[in-house]
Order: sequence, then structure tokens, then C-alpha cells
Amino acid sequence: IDELLAEGVAGKRVFVRADLNVPLDSGTITDDGRIRAVLPTVKALADAGAKVVVASHLGRPKGAPDPAFSLAPAADRLGELLGSAVAFATDTVGESARSTVAGLTDGQVAVIENLRFNAGETSKDDAERGAFADSLAELADLYVGDGFGAVHRKHASVYDLPARLPHAAGFLIATEVGVLKKLTEDVKRPYVVALGGAKVSDKLAVIDQLLGKADRILIGGGMAYTFLKAQGHEIGISLLQEDQLPAVREYIERAERTGVELVLPVDVLVSAGFPDLKAKAPTDFATVAAGEIPGGQMGLDIGPESRKLYASKLADAGTVFWNGPMGVFEHPDYAEGTKAVAQALIESPAFTVVGGGDSAAAVRLLGFDENAFGHISTGGGASLEYLEGKTLPGLAALEG
Ligand code: 3PG
Repeated sequence: IDELLAEGVAGKRVFVRADLNVPLDSGTITDDGRIRAVLPTVKALADAGAKVVVASHLGRPKGAPDPAFSLAPAADRLGELLGSAVAFATDTVGESARSTVAGLTDGQVAVIENLRFNAGETSKDDAERGAFADSLAELADLYVGDGFGAVHRKHASVYDLPARLPHAAGFLIATEVGVLKKLTEDVKRPYVVALGGAKVSDKLAVIDQLLGKADRILIGGGMAYTFLKAQGHEIGISLLQEDQLPAVREYIERAERTGVELVLPVDVLVSAGFPDLKAKAPTDFATVAAGEIPGGQMGLDIGPESRKLYASKLADAGTVFWNGPMGVFEHPDYAEGTKAVAQALIESPAFTVVGGGDSAAAVRLLGFDENAFGHISTGGGASLEYLEGKTLPGLAALEG
């Protein structure tokens, strides 16, 4: 983007592909981290006199307009953060988008409606995606890719559009890639990785990669129960991905063989069912040894001994990558495990990276100061796929 700015963007229409996929609760944004993350790029372009057209997806609508997934709340918030009104187009490439963009004056910002309201955005068919990209290209003279959270998607606005316009990476993508590169190249050891979240299937590929790179891997969250089961423990009615057991067993063996320390919870908080995340009323829970989860009970967080253990395993790290909450942090009874890991990261002198839209939101929602971490990535799947060593379509397109 520095080169684009140096060449001059005044009067040019610049399409900024952002990731404004923020969590919403009945239309209210509960965490605006992703909107704040794209501000430097939007501001720099607007200050330089560009007509800035910001575009993003939000959620997973089915290729047609759906008010529940409107980007309007994100556009409003962007305007508040910029301190100036932001125009909003109620479609993506239709009459509203065209007239909104045509009406922009130099330095003004517009947001167009959710890209995924058009089936062409996510289509697997190259021609269909290409046709949508052609329509988007008519809205702009230049393209800036800054939606790091979506660079792992081969979608029209991420992959096909940059091929149609002079393009550059925005400040956010440059920062994110710089940090993640550090984790793959000159990592300061011990390199400790904490992985949580519900599904082990989302993390298999990254664990596969990390087994050759990390010194220590801490496992928490819903995925820990598939690991405990693979070790032969009873896990009651805890989350289990039975089909992943062979892969998990192989990882446990490989970690032993290659000297990677794989750390599993030693105790867990259990209850008879999943807590009500809306009411957040106190639940009936108990702490049990990880190997002794009673039948009919569900593990919902790592326990106090595990919290101490994980903190000690993080304390001497040189580098930490953390992705995924340790428990059902949305309910106060089960937030302590995630809080303990966040706190350990803050206290650690290591270079700490929090990856994942969910973990990033968790850190902020639990009241931690985001500046206390080395880097909080805006990308969930994107940061994991980067660490997996995959070619990310949105980054490849910007290099081309
Ligand atoms: C994310 O939330 O990880 C990104 O915005 C990508 O969203 P997607 O998984 O729906 O493509």
C-alpha cells in the first residue's frame, strides 16, 4: 500500500477488501476488533484523497440477501471510529452500489452490502466467481487486500478481483503476515503452542505441522476430550469426535517419538449438560480428575490444577501461539481456564501471538488489555492455514 500511496490515489476509487465479519448479538456488535484493525488502511487512503469502497462478508448467508447478515451495523461502527459519515450501499454490485460509489467525493468512504449476498462470491465455479469479480471491478480503479481473516478463502473478492485491478496489500495484512512469518522462520525457543476450541477436526492439520516445529503443545477446550478418550480415559458425555480418534492417537504417538511435549488437562470442570449462555445463571459443576469423568457428565473447562500446570508450561516460553478457548468461556463458571492462559501469556516475557477471531474476541470480552499481548491476529482459519504452510489464495493473488 505504501507504493500505491506514493504514486497517489487522490480521486481514485479504491476497493478495500476488509474482514468485517464481527460477532453480532441481535444486530449489536459485541467485539469490533476486526473493524478497528482495518482503520489504518482506510484512513490512509481517505486522507490521501481516495474514494474508498470497503467490502466484506459477514457470517455465512446462502448467496442471497438476508437482513440478519447485513453489514449495516459494521458500516455504522466504521463511521463512528473514523469520526466521519460512511455511505452505505444496500446491495453489492447493483444500482445502490453503483450510485453510492459514483456519489463519493475525494476522501469519502462507502461500505457496500455483504459480498456473500451474491452467490458468485463463494462459488466453486471459476466462471461464476469471475463474473461477480468483473462486476465488482467496475466499482473501482485500484484494489487493496486487507481482510486477513478471509485470505484462506478462494472467493471472488479475495482471489479473482485482485487479478482484475492494480493491487496491493493493506497495512493489516502486512502486519499479520510479518508476525506469522516469524512463527515459521526464526522462532525463539521454547516454542509453546496452546490449542483449544471445540473441534479437533479444525486443528488436525496445524497439529500435524506443529509436531515438527513446536517444543510443547498444550491442549484444552472441547477438543481435549477426544485426546483424553484416545488415551483410554472415560469422558462421560463430553464432546467427542470419534472419527478423529485414529489421527489423534497417531499424534500422541508421534509426539512421544519426536520428543514434543504434549500437555493434556489433569483435571476438568464437569456438569450434567451444556450451560445456558444467554441466562448465564450459576450452574452445578464439580472438579474431577481428567481420567475420571463420571458417566452423564460433560467436561466444560480445564480445572484448577490444569490451570496451574498450563501457566507453568507457558512461563518459560520464548514464543507462544495460542488459538482457541480452553473452555466454555462465554459462561462465567467455565471462563477460568481461558483466563488463566490469557494471564500466563500476559505475564510471560515471550513473544505471544493470539490467533483466531474467537480467541481474540475472548481475550477482549474477558476484559484483558489487548496491548498486553505481542500480537492479536484477526484471522482464525487464516492464521491456522498460514501456520500449516498452505498457499493462501488471498495472499497469492496479491503477490501476482
Ligand atoms: C473468519 O471468521 O474466520 C473469517 O471471517 C472467515 O469466515 P468464513 O470461515 O465464514 O469464511
